Amino acid sequence: MKRYLITGASRGIGRAIAEKLAENNVTLFLHGRDVAALRETTNLVEANGAISRQLRADLGDKSSIRALIEQVSGEPLDALINNAGIAVVKPLDKISIEEWERTFAINVTAPFLLSQGLIPAMSQGGSIVNILSIAAKAGFAGWSSYCMSKFALEGFSQAIREELRARKIRVINIYPAATDTDIWNAVEGERPREKMISAGQVASAVAYTLAQPSDVLIENITLGNLSGSL
Ligand SMILES: NC(=O)c1ccc[n+]([C@@H]2O[C@H](COP(=O)([O-])OP(=O)(O)OC[C@H]3O[C@@H](n4cnc5c(N)ncnc54)[C@H](OP(=O)(O)O)[C@@H]3O)[C@@H](O)[C@H]2O)c1
Repeated sequence: MKRYLITGASRGIGRAIAEKLAENNVTLFLHGRDVAALRETTNLVEANGAISRQLRADLGDKSSIRALIEQVSGEPLDALINNAGIAVVKPLDKISIEEWERTFAINVTAPFLLSQGLIPAMSQGGSIVNILSIAAKAGFAGWSSYCMSKFALEGFSQAIREELRARKIRVINIYPAATDTDIWNAVEGERPREKMISAGQVASAVAYTLAQPSDVLIENITLGNLSGSL
């Protein structure tokens, strides 16, 4: 029985990953906050034969993260998929300190705490999958707090990848370009959805990396629409 924890599984890329990994002999820990949306993901994965458990936690809150770790730490995970994230898209002079700190808390501190809390129990062959972004590799005007968080997660993941090699735990980084999800609903300006990739395409990349033999590490996958960046 494989056991996977996916943060932000209530919608978007996280839900697509859950659907892709759902099959018999798989237990999915589906994290999110939106009860109704999580229930929908549960229905989708259970229709594919997976067992699922819902975990609700605000990843901006350290005590909620600790409670979440408690709930899954009975048996080791085969993969921790750090997917949940937020994007505050504003020019520099409009970003509040609260928005800056919340972006760091959800996009960086939460993956740090979850990794620190759950990796010790992981066995050889376990994986950490981080959903980064092309904004972990280049700056984009208006995206400074988001880029800051993804560059920070990039540094963290590169370092723990080296630390965990000796324990035969893989750290896999996925870098999607614009992907058609709700995250874009609050982003101003013209954002043509037909020039985005789908959440399912990101999920296929995640499933591909996890399906490799345990001694094969696909370190990085970058995905984008052939038409180029938005
Ligand atoms: N869409 C893109 O263009 C794109 C491109 C590159 C990378 N990414 C990355 O992919 C990941 C998923 O993004 P998405 O596009 O699927 O976004 P989305 O549709 O907005 O979904 C975000 C997910 O994160 C969860 N989440 C947000 N804030 C949370 C909080 N405080 N506590 C707990 N959960 C929280 C949400 O849960 P609830 O709704 O239940 O609160 C939701 O499940 C993010 O890390 C994002 O940076 C996205």
